[in-house]
Amino acid sequence: MPRLDLLIAHNLGYSRGIVTRLCRQGRVGTPGGPSLRDPGLQIAPASLPMVVDIDDVLHTLYLRYHLLQHKPVGVVTALRDDRHRTAYDLLKGAPLYKDLRAAGRLDLETSGLLLWTTEGPLLHRMTHPRYAVPRVYQAALRGAWQTPPPGFALEDGHVPEITELTPLAREQAHPGLDVPTGTTTLASITIVGGKFHEVRRIFAGLGSEVLGLCRVAYGPLVLPTTLAAGQYQELDLHSVFAGMHPRPRGAGDADEADEADEADEDLEGTREGADA
Ligand code: URA
Repeated sequence: MPRLDLLIAHNLGYSRGIVTRLCRQGRVGTPGGPSLRDPGLQIAPASLPMVVDIDDVLHTLYLRYHLLQHKPVGVVTALRDDRHRTAYDLLKGAPLYKDLRAAGRLDLETSGLLLWTTEGPLLHRMTHPRYAVPRVYQAALRGAWQTPPPGFALEDGHVPEITELTPLAREQAHPGLDVPTGTTTLASITIVGGKFHEVRRIFAGLGSEVLGLCRVAYGPLVLPTTLAAGQYQELDLHSVFAGMHPRPRGAGDADEADEADEADEDLEGTREGADA
């Protein structure tokens, strides 16, 4: 069970020494309730998030935190970057900010649904190929695409798992999809897995060029049309992904090692990456 002092230190970025002093001085309490003078007090996970009052300011303490972000075009999926703003910068002030990690990446020029969590094992489930989470993208294209021929493979030999590819009517386009001048057609594509620039490379292989790309769904989660680019909302990813089961080992295993590495990778650094 988490201890009160560790929870406060973790959530508010205080040192444990300071938290111990605050508790012992009677400056930490429940709102309108008694002081919590024992820094080692065990907090039942079921009672989290909980609100504490520290020097008459209310703070919510979380054990874990998850959120769904509408990543805008022009920010990189990284924790730090020398040249661009990052999707992480846009989360400043979120609970447990320091521990949030993205489930995969979207390109600099891709917008859409990006999930973040403080929980490593959950992140693994959400991104590892064996869990086969489908991702739905809407694309603004220059040029018509052809139906993938049997055995369709990308230029590096990777065989994409495309579960749906359909034309998209303008009125079905998500408000988050950028439709630049030069767009001749729109499409919706669902893929399982997420190699580097996979959707862009798929359309290139089918004879068209991606001018705008937006991820509109990840597993059962859909990017709300009311969530503006750059905004995020809290959600319980546990209830969505914790009960998922991996598919049996078999076809596609050859691709797993590098994708799993990518999924587990800390997003430090400057790489402008693809989805995972
Ligand atoms: N595929 C791409 O090509 N880019 C993305 O950002 C995500 C998937």
